[in-house]
Amino acid sequence: MGKFEKVLALAPERIPAHVAIILDGNGRWAEHNHRLRAQGHHAGADNVETITYACMDMGVKYLTVYAFSTENWKRSKDEVSYLMLLLKQYLLKYKKTAIAKKIRVRVIGDLGGLSDDLRALILDVEQATKDLKAFNLTFAINYGGRDELVRAVRRIAGQGIPAKGIPAEEITADTINAALDTAELPDPDLLIRTGGELRISNFLLWQCAYSEFYFTDTFWPDFGEEELEKAILDYAGRERRFGGRKK
Ligand code: FPP
Repeated sequence: MGKFEKVLALAPERIPAHVAIILDGNGRWAEHNHRLRAQGHHAGADNVETITYACMDMGVKYLTVYAFSTENWKRSKDEVSYLMLLLKQYLLKYKKTAIAKKIRVRVIGDLGGLSDDLRALILDVEQATKDLKAFNLTFAINYGGRDELVRAVRRIAGQGIPAKGIPAEEITADTINAALDTAELPDPDLLIRTGGELRISNFLLWQCAYSEFYFTDTFWPDFGEEELEKAILDYAGRERRFGGRKK
């Protein structure tokens, strides 16, 4: 059977346009394989590239990955520094491959809380890829769903002249959408969490209102093309009603 044949045989509307992934299980993968945690994160970072290309081949248009949460600062100093180093190394590497493959790279999260050099690198990659249209890869870095909503509410409240905020009755779901970090992205159709936990962990809280969830025990570095294919086939078999009645 050809690569991704089952997915490619699906009607296009059965393929999720936007897949979001909570990358979990790098540490446990390392433990199971008698490696260091850092090696687990390294393998996890490599896997983002594999899954990005698989998504592109399957006809997915947007991939958003949870790379570092607002809560991840609570980890040991060494682990946080290693994750920051990896993010820098990979963003540099992605800049080249993204341009070659016409991938637009975005970062969501509170960039103000990152080091100056990482923030500069993020802005550089975003700028360098802003007109590319083959695929949309978004990294959530220093991201928390509640933090994003707080920042959005502050933005909305700060609009209007003189800085009194826009009239309350003019605030709609669209106003909120437009003030979120994800303003340019459609809502995720499919949210995948690897690593066996069954929770959302502050990821895309507003945007996942109607997303389909897929949980797997597989650790993120082991979540390869076949696992992604399985998740997409599972999604394709679901009936989405967005709160409407069963047909
Ligand atoms: C969860 O594994 C993963 C993270 C905390 C962050 C994900 C980060 C990466 C994949 C590396 C950097 C990313 C990119 C895109 C360059 P865990 O440590 O919570 O695993 P555990 O629950 O098994 O300990």
